[in-house]
Amino acid sequence: MNKIEHSIYAGLAHAPAIELSEKLSETTDHNLNRVFYSDNGSTAVEVALKMAYQYFTNQGQKRTEFISLGGAYHGDTFGAMSVGSRGDFHKAFEALFFNCHQLPKPSCPFEYFNDEKTALKYIHPVIEALERILRKRKKKISAIILEPLLQGAAGAFNFYPPVLLRKIYEICKDAGILVIADEVFTGYGRTGKFYASQFTGLWPDIMPLSKALAAGYLPFAATLATEDVYQKFYSDERSHALLHGHSMTANPLGCAVALASLELFQKDQFLSKVASLETWHKQFQEKIKTKAIFKKIKELRCLGSVGVIELKIKSSYTEDFAWSFMQKAMAAGVLVRPLANVIYFCPPYCINQDELEKVYTVSEKIIEEIA
Ligand SMILES: Cc1ncc(COP(=O)(O)O)c(C=O)c1O
Repeated sequence: MNKIEHSIYAGLAHAPAIELSEKLSETTDHNLNRVFYSDNGSTAVEVALKMAYQYFTNQGQKRTEFISLGGAYHGDTFGAMSVGSRGDFHKAFEALFFNCHQLPKPSCPFEYFNDEKTALKYIHPVIEALERILRKRKKKISAIILEPLLQGAAGAFNFYPPVLLRKIYEICKDAGILVIADEVFTGYGRTGKFYASQFTGLWPDIMPLSKALAAGYLPFAATLATEDVYQKFYSDERSHALLHGHSMTANPLGCAVALASLELFQKDQFLSKVASLETWHKQFQEKIKTKAIFKKIKELRCLGSVGVIELKIKSSYTEDFAWSFMQKAMAAGVLVRPLANVIYFCPPYCINQDELEKVYTVSEKIIEEIA
């Protein structure tokens, strides 16, 4: 902060951005070694979509279509809305969206998350739809975009098995379309590994990051890409550059915070904290199974730092249940904000076991009262 508050990031660079790019590249074992900065998750996704589209136009191919998953949420700007699920959030703007093929929303009981053979039966419709679209439209499609393993805001905390993610990566790479893994929410350990994509052993081509990147201290985002993607823009032809930039792109203070956050993440071994969080979620959820409220619950699930209680009641995003729940929880001193009939716990990694227990105890009481 004392050295520089901001500098335009066009034709110029600065030390914090360069250092951060090197560190972010390391987090992917240098598989995604190129970094493009922006300000929030939605802009990181816009950059990813533009990158994927121009990757092909720079090679003389016009591919105006994308693929995404049913139940997806990628942000509130136009590109992000176009590839998001068609629901309450974005209905008013649908006429303006570009062409995106939506696969069925993955639906697999959480108990089969790691049981590849059984999971495959449930996720088969998604794979079948993907293969069908690729058979017909392969040369028109730039990329598939997805939230790896965990669909948040629109999917209502739907986990899908790693085998599906791996199959999608394999099929799309084979078909020559790019894979955009939107790790805006899942990145930085949320699901137990640093990136959710690491459950597959494969890397995407493009990866938007935000949320945890600057640890909540500043709005900040990055879109990581492979060397192959970068090389399709690296040209003496200026029109081949990705001509996208925001006033605050690569804000030095944002970069410095992100660097400090990464250092703490490694020094304080945050992945082992996430492992403890997963153990506590499991313990609290096991206890719920012995209680009377269990009969009101459709499914309990948890992965890494995220715990979920899905209720049997029917409630949409726009109904009152979630709002009433939140008010009651706040009155009891905790912030829990359900999505429709799904109560999710996505705490900061510094939460301790007693605090998490309080969150569960308060939530159980409210379920007893109003669900
Ligand atoms: C997976 C994912 N992508 C993109 C976004 C959009 O991020 P932002 O709200 O910072 O624009 C979100 C936000 O919830 C998200 O969960």
